[in-house]
Amino acid sequence: MESTGRLTGRTALVTGGGSGIGAATAELFAREGAKVVVADINGSNASVTVERIQEDGSTAEPFAADVSDESQVKELVDFAVRTYGSLDVLQNYASERRLVERDVFVAEADAAVWTGQLGVDLMGCVLTAKHAVPHMISSGGGSITNATSLAAWLSLESRPAYATAKAAVIGLTKTLATEYGKEGVRTNAIAPGHIVSPATERMYSEEQTQVMLDHVSAPRLGRPDDVALAALFLASPESSFINGQVIVVDGGMSAYAPMVPSFRRLAADS
Ligand SMILES: NC(=O)c1ccc[n+]([C@@H]2O[C@H](COP(=O)([O-])OP(=O)(O)OC[C@H]3O[C@@H](n4cnc5c(N)ncnc54)[C@H](O)[C@@H]3O)[C@@H](O)[C@H]2O)c1
Repeated sequence: MESTGRLTGRTALVTGGGSGIGAATAELFAREGAKVVVADINGSNASVTVERIQEDGSTAEPFAADVSDESQVKELVDFAVRTYGSLDVLQNYASERRLVERDVFVAEADAAVWTGQLGVDLMGCVLTAKHAVPHMISSGGGSITNATSLAAWLSLESRPAYATAKAAVIGLTKTLATEYGKEGVRTNAIAPGHIVSPATERMYSEEQTQVMLDHVSAPRLGRPDDVALAALFLASPESSFINGQVIVVDGGMSAYAPMVPSFRRLAADS
């Protein structure tokens, strides 16, 4: 896609930038003129994203940090401001995926799984915002986007800690929007549906991925770029009056009544 320089002059910090949606967002934002700090707990994956950005002639630096650790988050934000002189855009995509198989029904809950999931997916957003917002206010404003999920309001039956963390991210997003909107800092959330990423390729079998496709009201499954393009809109001045909202990027997966697939099956059988 042709760059339109919509983020020229901005500094963006992308957590979870070593993979999937975070990596696609970091690459798109850099192409659109932002100077990007690509943060990930996996520092070598963050460096791979940065190499791709630099090969493209754009500007980025990697930073290895665990977003659930406040001292590392403070160092990360300080690094962004020291390196590029400001912090205007924060994108929170870091997600604890290693706990997925142990995130089971609540009656079998392992407290460590809940602490780990909430620590990264929720507290990562809290801590990055805590340290980024003062810089944004001092430079006249900024934009924060947090990753939530359809799982926040459509239960997957299992994965309760993930669903709860993502639901809490919506509450946090609306609170941040209210607390700092008057000072020019907007906070929104993106709720992806099923997006093909390294994480979802590991998590879902081929048969399950086909089920996802059956439930998308689009000819294909979602791609990381679909989310990155929505994130670009939320980070750019074009969305300057949008604050505290959840933008769903799901190809229509959450748009229809639950009985539609059964009706389709009945129609196909008759
Ligand atoms: N892919 C989807 O279908 C989908 C659907 C709904 C929501 N989401 C959300 O979008 C975001 C990105 O999803 P994805 O599929 O690209 O995930 P992904 O697993 O490909 O990427 C997540 C990244 O976060 C990093 N990370 C994990 N723990 C971290 C920590 N403590 N500190 C810093 N980085 C850490 C990982 O190393 C990884 O690079 C996540 O928040 C996810 O919950 C994705």
